[in-house]
Amino acid sequence: ADTLGAAAAGKGRYFGAAVAANHLGEAQYVNTLNTEFNSVTPENEMKWDALEPSRGSFGFGNADRIVNHAQGRGMSVRGHTLVWHSQLPGWVSGLGASDLRSAMNNHINQVMAHYRGKIHSWDVVNEAFQDGNSGARRSSPFQDRLGNGFIEEAFRTARAADPNAKLCYNDYNTDGVNAKSNAVYAMVRDFKSRGVPIDCVGFQSHFNSASPVPSDYRANLQRFADLGVDVQITELDIEGSGAAQATGYGTVVTACLAVSRCTGITVWGIPDKYSWRSGGTPLLFDDNYTKKPAYHAVLSALGGS
Ligand code: G3I
Repeated sequence: ADTLGAAAAGKGRYFGAAVAANHLGEAQYVNTLNTEFNSVTPENEMKWDALEPSRGSFGFGNADRIVNHAQGRGMSVRGHTLVWHSQLPGWVSGLGASDLRSAMNNHINQVMAHYRGKIHSWDVVNEAFQDGNSGARRSSPFQDRLGNGFIEEAFRTARAADPNAKLCYNDYNTDGVNAKSNAVYAMVRDFKSRGVPIDCVGFQSHFNSASPVPSDYRANLQRFADLGVDVQITELDIEGSGAAQATGYGTVVTACLAVSRCTGITVWGIPDKYSWRSGGTPLLFDDNYTKKPAYHAVLSALGGS
């Protein structure tokens, strides 16, 4: 296989990219997307502020453009994300507990109904845990007003809204074994033991020199998989360049392939110039869509050439 998507498919995985609707008119962008990837994640278009900017008033246009593009080409779609403290419209933060609970459940129900049958995996809850050593939940309107139970409630609502979508918890700085990933692990173990519906855990995998690929990355993926959930690499990017960056990417892909329940990898953008890390070069294609050493490392780790 000579593309990322085809090589990953040969290993029973998908290989995706975060996509922005406002680049879908650019020929090189679309050509690279269509050639190399078989999964997409809308980078911002399915976030709460994009889909429900005022209460009960939904606008799906930009997200639909991405979903339609993907569906027309046989690509799967990751839904990102239903319940997150960021990119949350102001009206949500202003609600009291009982209103907030119904707004959260209504948002999940409306969005998942609109996309029912079209989404491979949903990031139902994103980034609900704090960084650092506390293992505690992050302060957010959901946490502060609804308490720990909001995550469970979101997953139960999501299962009923689209029973065929895989339901994921997604976070960053949980890529190795540490206090934060231990806290997520304890939550997933608890959900599995009590029958709370959860199918997958997303490991964002945003790496840089201060936070490189952890040496226990594969072991961490495996311990989650051993709880009976799939694991996915959901937002991969690695700051740097050249051989060092390529080595990091190769390590991530090799780790995923070593874990049978690691079902796919998504990179967080296509060319460096559109990365959220402004001025950085963390992706697989340079600003002219030329394949970087990191691209070749990924393709080779996937068994392609
Ligand atoms: O849409 C507005 C536009 O109307 C406005 O004119 C413009 C002016 O700044 O801003 C636009 O919104 C920006 C949005 O991206 C769309 O381009 C926001 O300012 C900007 O903050 C936002 O950044 C996104 C970021 O999430 C927000 O938290 C990045 O593109 C996106 O890559 C990033 O993705 C997150 C994942 O969702 C969760 N994990 C971490 C990851 C990286 O931060």
